[in-house]
Amino acid sequence: MEGTLRSNKVWDQEYKEQEVIPSTSTLRPSSSFREYVAQHRNNLEGATLIDIGCGNGRNSLYALKNGFTRVHGFDYSKEAIKLAKRNARAAHLHENSYRFYTHDLTTGLPEQDNSFDLAIDMTTSHLLDEDQITTLFKEVYRILKPNGEFLIFTIISNKLSGKEVMDVEMGGGSAVEYFIHDYEGLAIKNSFKIVGKDFYESQTHIGNNLFDRRYLKLLLVKG
Ligand SMILES: C[S@@+](CC[C@H](N)C(=O)[O-])C[C@H]1O[C@@H](n2cnc3c(N)ncnc32)[C@H](O)[C@@H]1O
Repeated sequence: MEGTLRSNKVWDQEYKEQEVIPSTSTLRPSSSFREYVAQHRNNLEGATLIDIGCGNGRNSLYALKNGFTRVHGFDYSKEAIKLAKRNARAAHLHENSYRFYTHDLTTGLPEQDNSFDLAIDMTTSHLLDEDQITTLFKEVYRILKPNGEFLIFTIISNKLSGKEVMDVEMGGGSAVEYFIHDYEGLAIKNSFKIVGKDFYESQTHIGNNLFDRRYLKLLLVKG
């Protein structure tokens, strides 16, 4: 598509208007993260989380309300980070328990080695190209503690009227570009163990279009 943008400006606009992408206008956490929290409820006390492409902070805030004691969330959209900070203040969370910051993950992750128990990628990494997602996997491996986990919920098929669509219109003549990756191959190449795998299907409204989507949920452990 001509004029396709893969940039934080498109997302800034979306987080200002909260019109097109369902996750920008809700504080309800991702279903796959809710499931993770329910399954690990007894082991979360004191855990640390990094939320990759955190958007409005909905998953980070849910983590803090469910046992995690320290959460870092970052996004390359300044507007997303403004919202996340505002939402955290409105939830009266302890200021020392979270850090939301603007950062483009394609330049690596500005975090210490071995510092997080869990990393989550809730529908962010399918927006990265092959080189960028390779960097992401290497960096997540580096910043996770030994036995730390990486939970991924990602789009692996996005169809409109039966046809795979890789550019999704966001309004105002802009669009986001999707990439399909071999997540299991990336996991193995980067020394992760695959401990959970599920597929989901749903229909999602983006603007005026109804997409048939297939999602992959993957749970990896740093070996
Ligand atoms: C579909 S939204 C999901 C947001 C959030 N994870 C959630 O579940 O609500 C994808 C997010 O990835 C962010 N993003 C895309 N590319 C990025 C990059 N290179 N660096 C940091 N954030 C990025 C976007 O700004 C957007 O907030």
